[in-house]
Formats: sequence, C-alpha cells, structure tokens
Amino acid sequence: MSRELLFNLTLATMERGDRPYGLVDHGAIALDAGRIAWRGPADAIPDDFSAWRRRDLEGRLVTPALIDCHTHLVYGGDRAREFEMRLEGASYEEIARAGGGIFSTVEATRRTDPDTLLAGALPRVDALIAEGVSTIEIKSGYGLDVETELAMLRVARRIGVERPVRVRTSFLGAHAVPPEYAGRPDAYIGDVCLPALEAAHAERLADAVDGFCEGIAFTPAQIDRVFTRARALGLPVKLHAEQLSNLGGAVLAARHGALSADHLEYVGEEGVRALARSGTVAVLLPGAFYTLRESHYPPVELFRRHAVPMAVSTDCNPGSSPLASLLLAMNMACTILRLTPEEALAGATREAARALGIDDAGRIAPGLRADFAVWNAAHPAELAYRIGFNPLAERIFSRAP
Ligand code: NIG
Ligand code: FE
Repeated sequence: MSRELLFNLTLATMERGDRPYGLVDHGAIALDAGRIAWRGPADAIPDDFSAWRRRDLEGRLVTPALIDCHTHLVYGGDRAREFEMRLEGASYEEIARAGGGIFSTVEATRRTDPDTLLAGALPRVDALIAEGVSTIEIKSGYGLDVETELAMLRVARRIGVERPVRVRTSFLGAHAVPPEYAGRPDAYIGDVCLPALEAAHAERLADAVDGFCEGIAFTPAQIDRVFTRARALGLPVKLHAEQLSNLGGAVLAARHGALSADHLEYVGEEGVRALARSGTVAVLLPGAFYTLRESHYPPVELFRRHAVPMAVSTDCNPGSSPLASLLLAMNMACTILRLTPEEALAGATREAARALGIDDAGRIAPGLRADFAVWNAAHPAELAYRIGFNPLAERIFSRAP
C-alpha cells in the first residue's frame, strides 16, 4: 500500500483562505495511492494516519508541484539568428512579415523527423521537471499542414510516456498562415486547419484548441470558425490574444467560454470584463514580454479589480520566449509585471491548473493528486525572489490515474 505521512514541513497549500499561500507553519500531509488523504497542522494529525509510514522532510517547504500551462516546446531548429536580427533593430513583426519568425520554425519542424523532434524537446522538459514542474501544456502550431500538426501532437504525447510528467496538448493549427496559403487565410482554415483539427480529435491528440488572433496571424472571424468547430467536438478553447495589438480576441475567447486568454498586453477594460464574466484565466507570459522588449504592460491592476484569475507560464518557444524556467517566469512576473510573489506562485499552480481545465492538481487539498514540490526554502516568497537559482529538493509525482 502506498500510504505515507509526510511531516516536519512548512506547507503552502495555495488554497484561498485566511493565510497567504494557504500557509501552515508546522504541517503534515497524508498520501494514499497517489492522492492527498489529509493535510493540516502536525499537531492535528488524525489518529487514522498514526500507523502510516512516516517521512521527515526536515523543515522544508512543500508547495503544489508547478504547472507550466503554455508552451510550444516541440519544434525543429532554433531562432538564434533572429535574436541577432532583433538586436540589430528588426522587430518581431517585421521578421514575421519577411517570412522569418514562426515560418522559419515551421520550415524546420516540417523537415525534422519525430524522433529528432522528441530528442530536441526532452532537454527543455527536463529543465522544467528539475524545477518541480509536474504538468506541462504543449501546443502544435509549427506544422501548419495536417501531417506535421499531428506529428507534433504525437511527439507531445510521447513526452508524457518518456518522462514522469503529465502533458496536456493544445491544437494550434491557427498559429500562422503558412507560405503556401499566403494571402488566403480563409482557405487555409477550411482546407487545412479544420481537417487537421478533426484528425487530431479522432486520434485523441488534442485536449484543447488554441489560436493566435493578431494582425500577423488570424482575425477574430477566422478564429471563431476554429472555435466553433472545436466546441462542436467538445473541446475547450484558449487564445493568444492582444499580444501585439487589440483585435477583440479576449472578448471572442470569453464568448466561447475559453479556459484562458494568453499574453493580453493590449487588452482593454471591455476585454477584461468579458474574461471576468466567463471565468477565463489571464495567462501572463513575461518571457515573451521580456524577449520582445515590450513596453505595453498587461493590465494587472484591471485583472485584480475585476477578479480575473492570473496564471504565469514560460511560453517556452524558439522565437518570442526561449525560456525553459518557470521559476524565472515567476520572478519576471513579479519584477517586470508587478505581480506579488503569492500571485506568481498561484499563477504557476492553482490558476495554471484552471487555465488547463484541471481540477485535481495545483493545490494541496484532500482528494487531489499527490503532486508536490519540496524546496530548500523557508518561505514561499523565496521561489519568485531568486534569479537563476533552483532550490528544489525533491519532486513528488503522482501516478494516480
Ligand atoms: O506565444 N504568439 C504567438 N506564438 C508564440 C510565438 C511563437 C514563435 O515566435 O515561434 C508566442 O509568443
Ligand atoms: Fe504562445
């Protein structure tokens, strides 16, 4: 029987309540078959658990394992040359319009066989796992033809087999218009994106459907076609919205009951109100903000005022956010976007789970998965505070179904 009582630990349950971080100074957790049976103060451990195998965590901090809810970490090639070009003065949009950017990754991904795609992705996955990440969302979107979109999603699924990590996939066929459909985005949606979505769904390769609503990508009307089909298939949606301009993506996402709207640098109050009404999570991606040297900040104060939940993620991708550290994303969320350390940790646990439609992880509460990160730290604010330092002592990963 895999029953265990963890004791001598500081507990940050990340549940909403009286104390910040759901903090319990002298805590204990009882685990049973990969699920949390009980958690609370050590002086209130119920008698039922007193005979269970005990493990002393020597005063360490225990939080929910981290969740990276927005990545594009399966791809071919790299974009280091584009990084140089941006430093020489070219903008992200200029590079994209000149056929670089996402397109150069599409070309490289199409040329790369699945085993090589997997081998390229695993070091990024391992870097996240080493920081206490238990769940990673991975998008397609660098194939933009039926076969390569499916190949990316199959590689994403294999990552969850090759490594002790839970993978949630998002179909992102509406990421960019590929060169062979240049100037014909509607034809691309009808000929490629929707058939690829159907095929991905038939193979159970997509847990959600994403899109990029932007001047250099798709209009709200085009995204609406994709979302309408997704919902007819019973798949939840999420959207890259208002990253470089405001096209009304957040309102569209909210109308479709999206799990999340991501980036949101340019969202206005109307969009924020719509997200609040639909319970859609605002996913903040400070790695992209930093890499693109954005100056237009996502309206964190408006999100707070309207009680829009905020998640924080790496957006790990080869172009706008070559970041494979969720701890650094949390630090940037605080220092650059002005989140509190508590909001940043909630954003990489409780709210990230919500952004993925997961209700059994991201908090430490009875019945949830026994997914924990054990840290060499005394207080949870330390996690977002340090830069380039990994205080993980141990990750506990639940194999519960
Ligand atoms: O989340 N915004 C669009 N998609 C990615 C960028 C992908 C890329 O540049 O390759 C993002 O930032
Ligand atoms: Fe993204």
